Amino acid sequence: MKAPRSPRPSAVLLALALSACTQPTVPGDENPPLVDLGDPVAGELAFRQECGTCHASRDGFDVAHFAYSDTTILRRALGHVDTTAALDIVAHVRSLEVDRRSPDVRIFQPGGEILSNDLEFATGLFGSDSWPDTLSTAGLRALDPREVPIAVAFPVWSDEESNRDWMPDNAFPDALLDFGDGDVRARLDEYRRTSSVQDLISALQVLGAADREEGNPDAPCVEGLDRLSPAECFDVRRWVSSFGAQFMLRHDLDGAVHNALHDVWWDIGHVARRTVLSDGFEGEIPNALENWVTWMYAGWAFEPERHASFYLAAGLARSELPRHATFHVLRAQVSRMEGSVAPYVDAANVPRYGHEPWVMEGLAFAYQHLLERLDAGDRPVDDLAQARDEVGTAYELAVPFVTAAEADTLRGLRDQILGEL
Ligand code: HEC
Repeated sequence: MKAPRSPRPSAVLLALALSACTQPTVPGDENPPLVDLGDPVAGELAFRQECGTCHASRDGFDVAHFAYSDTTILRRALGHVDTTAALDIVAHVRSLEVDRRSPDVRIFQPGGEILSNDLEFATGLFGSDSWPDTLSTAGLRALDPREVPIAVAFPVWSDEESNRDWMPDNAFPDALLDFGDGDVRARLDEYRRTSSVQDLISALQVLGAADREEGNPDAPCVEGLDRLSPAECFDVRRWVSSFGAQFMLRHDLDGAVHNALHDVWWDIGHVARRTVLSDGFEGEIPNALENWVTWMYAGWAFEPERHASFYLAAGLARSELPRHATFHVLRAQVSRMEGSVAPYVDAANVPRYGHEPWVMEGLAFAYQHLLERLDAGDRPVDDLAQARDEVGTAYELAVPFVTAAEADTLRGLRDQILGEL
């Protein structure tokens, strides 16, 4: 049997409790703390029903983990439920035994700090404003993008003033959950039953695919621009991203989990990018360029071998972060899978998007890296013609940024690669 519930606080008591937090605590203060006014068991159910549609943790983990104050929880809860339920929710969130951290933390921010600009990135990483000509493939591979501080601020969990946060403004739409045979809802339910990582991945795979399902008239992220609903797509993807991220936070994971988890972070950036580059979408997603760069970087940092480098490199270049762009392109290049043409495309992206004064050292690095691959027997067998084109394009794009003597050196490397391809 349930314990008898304490009498409900009057509005006056509630007002006192609310104001208590803004005033210095007086010893012997009679106001009971908010947490004691509610029933945590009822609060758990209320959270699941009234909050858990948007807060994908469903049990309130995120609200507890980011240590929002009782008054903040109460204030936010009152936007969705009555005072009784709101106090129950406060009591429930307080009762959760989870690691707590500041609401201001930018989770997964590389190296845990934000640099102020592009130059600081270079000097912090390399000791000077140049691409070091001593850097080897192994040396670059050892620089983990999750650890290298950058001048791109990752989102906070909740930002009431802007869309630079993980929290989606809306629940994941029923029209996507129930489409077809309802597989998406079934897999989500299965994960919620077992909480296993396998079921998480399998839910993420169908959630990620649902937003671009051509056969579903309500899918907001379908490739054709005439069917794209950018704001909705952005929000749906934030929901899925926050759903995956809270699993990592709950289990204190800070390494790569699975591409189904990290790709959707990248995909948030992808829809933001489309609104920047396509006519007719201005203002659909506020802070579009920042969102493009941040979310793509977040996805890429966990899986540096994935994604063609021109997407993020172009965003970094537009954001006056060309040194970051060079780093991104070359760090992606050294992670590419064997047999792939991607490292050849990366080479051309060094002069296309990278820092102009670094074109000589950057492209020399990229060419050397391609030679190492070829020497090791790694050839882009299915795309030889494209690989040759990219190697040639890289040189052509580099010429305006290098001296005649440097161009000779680059030409020598180019011809060596073409000879071995
Ligand atoms: C319709 C979606 C939705 C529902 C339902 C919802 N929230 Fe939220 N919540 C958000 C969003 C979005 C944010 C991020 C801040 C913003 O954009 O306003 C947020 C942020 C918060 C925050 C942090 C506020 C801060 O100071 O940054 C708390 C606490 C919170 N919600 C509690 C709740 C509780 C408790 C409930 C249920 C009673 C609830 N929310 C229901 C969407 C929702």
